[in-house]
Amino acid sequence: MADTFSPDFMNKLVALCKRRGIIFQSSEMYGGINGFWDYGPNGAPLRRAIEKTWWKYMVEDRDNVEGLDSTIICHPKIWKASGHLDQFSDLMTDCNECKKRFRTDLMEDPHVCPNCGSKNLTEPREFNLMLKTYVGPVFDEEHTAYLRAETCQPIFVDFNTVRVATREKIPFGIAQTGKAFRNEINPRFFTFRSREFMQMEMEFFCHDEESMDWFEYWRKERWNYYTKILGIPEDKLRWKWHEKLAHYAKAAVDIEYLFPFGWGEIEGIHHRGTWDLSRHAEFSHQEQDCKVYDQEKKESFIPTVVETSCGLDRICLMALCNYYDEDTAETKKEGMNEDDRVVFRFPFNIAPLQIAVLPLSKKLNDDAHEVQKVLKKFFRTNYDVTGSIGKRYRRQDEIGTPYCVTVDFDTLEDHAVTGRNRDTMKQVRIPIAELNHHFLEKI
Ligand code: GAP
Repeated sequence: MADTFSPDFMNKLVALCKRRGIIFQSSEMYGGINGFWDYGPNGAPLRRAIEKTWWKYMVEDRDNVEGLDSTIICHPKIWKASGHLDQFSDLMTDCNECKKRFRTDLMEDPHVCPNCGSKNLTEPREFNLMLKTYVGPVFDEEHTAYLRAETCQPIFVDFNTVRVATREKIPFGIAQTGKAFRNEINPRFFTFRSREFMQMEMEFFCHDEESMDWFEYWRKERWNYYTKILGIPEDKLRWKWHEKLAHYAKAAVDIEYLFPFGWGEIEGIHHRGTWDLSRHAEFSHQEQDCKVYDQEKKESFIPTVVETSCGLDRICLMALCNYYDEDTAETKKEGMNEDDRVVFRFPFNIAPLQIAVLPLSKKLNDDAHEVQKVLKKFFRTNYDVTGSIGKRYRRQDEIGTPYCVTVDFDTLEDHAVTGRNRDTMKQVRIPIAELNHHFLEKI
């Protein structure tokens, strides 16, 4: 078992993620850029696989949630209406001695520098987190636009178009996944706090009287997602209720995961009242687009919103921390000299690559490619022909591939391959004709 709470665990994880092409710093050739991360050939499929589980669970498996994919740059007035331009800021403090900058609310003692212990600090100053750009040929105030700071605002703005197009009646939800950008003062803990990250958000529009029932409903659904779909143990998750609520909200709660660096938020479930739609009605002067008609009361009204909002990169980081493992004893079974093996025990549904095809000799390449072609129809596959078979198993363990399939010279005779299970390391002979059935049955 790995000690994920040892002080050097995060360094180990970051190094492994780079070595195996899972996640590494963006623009490394130029010294990197703080708060930006690239997902490599073994990280991009992990992030996509997790996103896919969310989309299926939140959109495809439900009749009352519609999907959306809006632009990253939207009309700048949206961010005025949402309050982001005026209020989306953190307090920051600079140390006059070591020149480091900190988010004041995260400092243990706002009068002492957490880096060098100096008390020579600047007064806290407001720092807006929106990232700016320009649209059009002139770089001036009039052409300023913003990269979205959360994916939900375009959902509110598109509410009526989606409602009319789908003929949905409240209660119903609109969901989207995509990039969000925040000019964080202190990006830290690997990808946990980044400046560019992915969000997965769902806004559920309902009658105000029913909104707390829906809040409870979504709270349970989201807990189930983490425990049942992603297999995260319940004792590594907890609820954190917000003590201070926005004036329009009836409730807000976070789901936190016990990361190696402490409890950290992965998702917020928020009662947003009628705040967002009311603000967009006011700022766009298109009130009718923010209202629905109540047949019984014969009047239009702005629906109340319950939101579920999570960060995909934080969920990936949670999966990496949660499924990282090391073992020593079994390694010897496969005749390796190394006494350690590092393994990500990802569940099959989110494993970046699900089955690796390993020919025992380059002479078997043609046959092994045929086997991979068969498996590719249903699974994310990998092909590895270099190094001893033991080393190749280790490489697959380190990226969390649940199964390896070895093509050997017997394959030419018996039209079967050897399947090896990542966790038990047990090996079984499987006829090629039954391969897909064999693995589909396992999931
Ligand atoms: N629409 C509501 C909203 O954006 P939030 O609590 O600011 O709420 C929701 O963000 C989720 O987005 C968080 O729970 C977290 O998982 C993720 N998130 C927020 N800031 C992030 C950052 N700087 N880096 C990575 N993920 C972040």
